[in-house]
Amino acid sequence: MNSLESATQSAGARLIKRLAIMRRISQRSDWIERIIFSPASEEAAYKLKGWMDASGMETFNDPLTNVYGQRSFSKEGTEAPRIHLGSHYDTVVNAGAFDGILGVLIGIAVVEAIVESKHPFNHNLSVLAFCDEEGVRFNTTFLGSAYLTGLFKEEWLHKEDEYGKTLGEWLVDRAESIDMILNAHKTPYIRPQDVFLESHIEQGPILEKSNRALGVFINIAAQLRSEIILTGCAGHAGTIPASLRNDPLPVASEMVLAVNQMCKSDELIRSTVGHLEVIPNASNVIPGTVKFSIDMRYPDLKGLKRVHDKLSQEIKSIANRSALKFEYKLVHEADDAQLDQRLTDILAESCEVMQGSSPRMFSGAGHDSMKVAQVCPASMLAVRCKDGLSHHPDEYASNADCILAFKAMLRAVLIIDKNF
Ligand code: GLV
Ligand code: MN
Ligand code: MN
Repeated sequence: MNSLESATQSAGARLIKRLAIMRRISQRSDWIERIIFSPASEEAAYKLKGWMDASGMETFNDPLTNVYGQRSFSKEGTEAPRIHLGSHYDTVVNAGAFDGILGVLIGIAVVEAIVESKHPFNHNLSVLAFCDEEGVRFNTTFLGSAYLTGLFKEEWLHKEDEYGKTLGEWLVDRAESIDMILNAHKTPYIRPQDVFLESHIEQGPILEKSNRALGVFINIAAQLRSEIILTGCAGHAGTIPASLRNDPLPVASEMVLAVNQMCKSDELIRSTVGHLEVIPNASNVIPGTVKFSIDMRYPDLKGLKRVHDKLSQEIKSIANRSALKFEYKLVHEADDAQLDQRLTDILAESCEVMQGSSPRMFSGAGHDSMKVAQVCPASMLAVRCKDGLSHHPDEYASNADCILAFKAMLRAVLIIDKNF
């Protein structure tokens, strides 16, 4: 076994151990949950930074709680072009143990294999662990990658979490001045001269169906998220007859069915109500307010806007037939992303060497690569997951598939180092 092979073997073993460690870092004992600014998120960031430090990277934290590290191999110094590897370390609620974190840990393992084997390398190699891709706290995704690419918008500082606390207030509580936060982000760490490679579980069934552990994404769907608030009048469930009620829940139910109908109407459309609040949520009280979210996806933003307009018209006409106060807010928009063909070909070729062929797929799930691709070439390696399950506690990728993904990524990084 040569030195690269033996360093790869030990880095692969650590990768599997670290996946097990990370799945235990959660703010809940009954499921995995790491939401930006929570103690579990801080603990995860601390662990990741420790592993980056141990592999000899210079490490950084930013006010948003992104963690990133660089091993500078380039003779031109620390600012020379970077090959970035990584993904996000936050999770959804009741999450799986692979979404996001697998890509971060593969990034660290790639650096370790190269450093430990003393394999010749010419670029600066960087690992990115983004703090918020899922958008659970503020209902807007990609906060971490937006910050490190310089695409963070000042207006997001006013985004509120469910307790009414804004992102700006969270940052100030962390003893950061808003000016410093906005200024730092004007000289982004991720730049046009860099490249980004993200490993991620597929979150769908195609690889499993094609009997392949690995594949590549070629593009990522556009996304829109909205929030709807319906306000009627709370009252006594035992005394008020239907004709005298102004109950928002039956109207919200009609809207939820319209969202579901839209999803069924076309194979390419995804529309989901995943969050619904009934206030005050008591069995003997007629609800006074209902709030819910709509998440929509489509292969391209133009098509998505067309579908979204149709659905929002329908929702407005349902609201107009009621006496409720109706608020409709678009809270998040992400353009579809085309991934870089040259990088994707290199990743696909690495997969072919490992397993004979490499499926090329479209991703309906959102990824940090969508943000990063706006700034520099980006590409994605997809890893088979059992039954295509994700955003679910039973999300599962086998140790063998995770290690194969790490080896394919390492091989691709060594080729990119020589050819870019
Ligand atoms: C992120 O996982 C998303 O696609 O919502
Ligand atoms: Mn996710
Ligand atoms: Mn993810």
